[in-house]
Parts: sequence; structure tokens; C-alpha cells
Amino acid sequence: MSSMRKGSPPALHTLILAAGEGKRMRSARVKLLHEVAGDPMVRIVARVARELKPQTLAVVVGTQAEEVRAALETFSIEFVTQNPPLGTAHAVMQAEPLMRRLAGGLKGGRGTLLILNGDLPLITAAVLKRLLKQHRASGAAATVLSTVVADPSGYGRIVRGASGGLARIVEDRDAEAAEKRIVEINAGLYCAEMPVLFDALRRTGRGNAQGEYYLPDIFPLLAKRGLIVEAYRHPVAEEVLGVNDRSELAAASRILWRRRADALMASGVSVVDPSCTYIGSDVEVGPDTVIWPQARIEGRTSIGAGCSIGSLAHIMDSIIGDDVTVRNMCVISDSRVERGARVGPFAHVRPGTVIEEAAHIGNFVEVKKSRIGRGSKANHLAYVGDATVGADCNIGAGTITCNYDGVRKHPTILEDGVFIGSDTQLVAPVRLGRGAYIGAGSTITKDVPGGALALTRAELRIIPGWAERRRAQQAAEDAGTTGNTVKSAPAATPAGRPKTRRGKR
Ligand code: UD1
Ligand code: CA
Repeated sequence: MSSMRKGSPPALHTLILAAGEGKRMRSARVKLLHEVAGDPMVRIVARVARELKPQTLAVVVGTQAEEVRAALETFSIEFVTQNPPLGTAHAVMQAEPLMRRLAGGLKGGRGTLLILNGDLPLITAAVLKRLLKQHRASGAAATVLSTVVADPSGYGRIVRGASGGLARIVEDRDAEAAEKRIVEINAGLYCAEMPVLFDALRRTGRGNAQGEYYLPDIFPLLAKRGLIVEAYRHPVAEEVLGVNDRSELAAASRILWRRRADALMASGVSVVDPSCTYIGSDVEVGPDTVIWPQARIEGRTSIGAGCSIGSLAHIMDSIIGDDVTVRNMCVISDSRVERGARVGPFAHVRPGTVIEEAAHIGNFVEVKKSRIGRGSKANHLAYVGDATVGADCNIGAGTITCNYDGVRKHPTILEDGVFIGSDTQLVAPVRLGRGAYIGAGSTITKDVPGGALALTRAELRIIPGWAERRRAQQAAEDAGTTGNTVKSAPAATPAGRPKTRRGKR
């Protein structure tokens, strides 16, 4: 480009193409909203693009535009609409007015546009930087990132000329037999100089198998004008794997999860089996924590140091302190578990819960919107909802806070040191004073003062010999009814003696 000055490079703008439907997903949802390792694909790509600190981060939306915008709402992004989606060249064309505005008119001005297909969730900032570096070093008007793959089917093929330079890119569906054998493919990442890019885009046509405007068609058009075009061959195909169907979606997720496990292991976390551990992009884990297979940790979760996170634990948007044990099969969401606490196995910690230091929540215990005080224990089979539990309380097996009267939720308060016997119902609102005892099997409907014993219990009656008499009576009745019909085979008594008396009579 004759107008290119030496010195500082042109400003960098980025554009993500996200207007296509993604028919091969066979989904009601547009492809780029599908999650890869827990995040919508478009969000992953935008996050990587943002790492380059471009002057502009723009996204072309079309199909399900509102939903795609929503998936990106925490980013500062310029949206461009493409409707209907008539191909990748057409998508980039829609960004021209925005780029002219942002890049100060662009007339005679400069600007490098980094274009990313939105379906490349394994891309990294390092790859994009290398593409940009190559593009600038060669002084090209446009550079495409290529890579060599074992199975090139579906991809556009890089056709090189006699001298080895990029001649053109042919789409799979337009390729002839010889071209289909080319294993160097277009990854779907480009750098191009504005405004010559827009000039070339306007000259692309739809005379191809898909009847679309193809972005890769700009390369021969720019070359014809005497401008330099380049293909930067990236050595790691995995980093530019395109996701077009659900099988590629699963493959990409597996790779991203593996990368997160690798990063955690590098920082001192033990991931027992990184091939089946599912850790989200916003999760932080402290050193010397051990994560057992099949754990799924998502959302804004932070886990401290020295913890053990059991198999099949599912932790979402929660804060787990240091030295916490989460045993197998626990679900914890929107909650905080403090230092040294133990949860599970098979516990359900629901939103709004705080489990304080050294508290224990055992098997088949559900806790919702409650605070479990320091050192308190609910070790088996309990429901604790809307409760504030003080320190060093003991909540016996089968304790239920009856927090819901069918209309409203009511609070239960346990002051420090309360002991609740097994199989107790606490009918809220109710308050149990400091150090109170509740006898097993009680239904507590009134506040209990500190230090008191409360119990509701029907009187225990013991009737000696009752069971024996009942059996005898039963046997006698049976003999009376069967005796008339089955005379030859008298029924046996519990003691095994033939029953004769009544039957014979
Ligand atoms: C494209 C390339 C192909 C390359 C492959 C790499 C073209 C014509 N072909 O093919 O050479 O090997 O990517 O993965 O570019 N999109 C729009 N508007 C449209 C069409 C598509 O925004 O009108 C977006 C899609 O949402 C997607 C991206 O562009 O994020 C690529 O579209 P896709 O249909 O997946 O292109 P491929 O057929 O894979
Ligand atoms: Ca694609």
C-alpha cells in the first residue's frame, strides 16, 4: 500500500462475524449461542479479541440478534446488523459505515481490521497476535490465517500459486477434485487494511455453490490490484478448530476444559483426572486443593487453598474458603462455605446460605437461605430453610424447619449451643434460646427460652403380652374362615402346630 507510512502501525479494529444461523447444529438456537465449556461461543471469541486491546470491538449480528447481544452485554461492543445473512463478505460490508465513522472517515486514513469467524472458540490471543505480526511484517493488504489439518472437508482450501504464494481460497462446495485434496485450509481469521478491504468486498459476487458473498474472494481481487496478499500458516491446527456441528462442539469443550485444568495444575491445584473435570472460565482455585473426577465448578466461584472437592460435586457462583471438604455428590449454589467446613456427601446447599467455619453439613441435608454458625452440625437427613443457626448447635437427624405455611416463608432462629433431638419439626416463626434442648420427635410451635428443655410427646404405653394375644386371635379367625372350605389342609398356626380346634367343629 503506497499510502502506508512507516512508523506507528495503523490502529487495530476487530470484527466478529456472528450473524449466521449455523444450520449444521440442527438447533432452534443460533450456533454462536451454544456453550463451549460453559460459555456461549460468541462470548469466548469476544473475550479473546478483547485481550488485544483493539480500538474497536465490533460484532455482526443477524439471526437472533437480541439473544446474541444479551450474551455479550457485559462487554463494550459495537453491534452491526446483517439481515439477511448473505455470506461472510456481505457480513463485513455491513461494518463499513461504522468503521468509517470510528476510524475518522478512513479516507486516506488507515486502520487494520482483524476479522474473526465467531465459531472459533479455541482461539487464543497469542495466535491473533502472530497473525497480526505477520500481516504487518509483510506489508500485506490482507492476510488469512491457514493451517494444515488431517481432514480438510468442509473448509475453504488455500490454493497457492507456482511460487508458493496465496492465489485464492476455494470453498469446499466449489472445489474440484484436485483442490479438495489440499490439506491447508482457511481457518476463518483475517487481517485486512481499510479502506482497500471495503473496495474489494464490493467487488465480490454470488456466483458460487452457496449463492453467497464469500469473504475469501477478496484475496485474488486485492492481488489483481497489485497489492500484497498473504496466508500465514499457523502450526497448531487445534487452536483454530471451527465448530459447525454438535460433535465439534463437544470436541471444543473438551479441549477448553482441559486447558483450564492444565492452567490450574500449573498454579498448584491437583486435578485428579483432567479429562473429566469441568471448570468454568471465571472460577478461581487456590493451591493444594484437590479436585476429584467429574466435579463441575461454574459461574463466579472461588475455592480456597487446601480444599477437597469430591466427585460429581456441582458448585455454582459460590465462595468456598480454605481447607473446606466438599464430599461426593453435593450441589452448592450462590452460597458461602467458610474455612474448615465439611459438606456432604449428598448435600444440597441452596442460594443464600452461609456455612461458617468448621460447621458440618452431612448426607441428605438441604440448607436454603440459612446461616449455619461456627462449628454447628446437621449431619444427617435434615431440611434447614430460612434459618439462622448460632455456633455449636446440633441439629439431629430428620430435623425439619417448617418454614412455609403455604403463603409465606418464616424464619427459624437457633441461638448458640442449641441441641435438637432427631425427628423434630420446628414450626416457623420460632426462636430457640441459647443452649436449649429439644427432645427427639417434638413439634415445636412456640419459642423456647434459653436453657430450657422442650418436648412434645404422646404418652408411651406398654401393654405386656399384647402381640402374642393378637397373633393367637388372628390365627383363630383365619382357621374359622378357611376351615369350611379346605378341610384336608388345615392352616398352620404361627407355632407350626396344625390348627384343629375351630376348624373341626
Ligand atoms: C468459512 C469460510 C471457509 C473457512 C471456514 C473456517 C467463507 C465463505 N468460508 O466457512 O473458507 O474454511 O469458515 O471455519 O467465509 N456469518 C455471518 N454472516 C453470514 C454468514 C456467516 O455473520 O452471512 C458468520 C457465522 O455466524 C460464522 C462465520 O461467519 O461465525 C463463518 O460462517 P460459516 O457459515 O460457519 O462459514 P464456513 O462455511 O464454516
Ligand atoms: Ca464455520
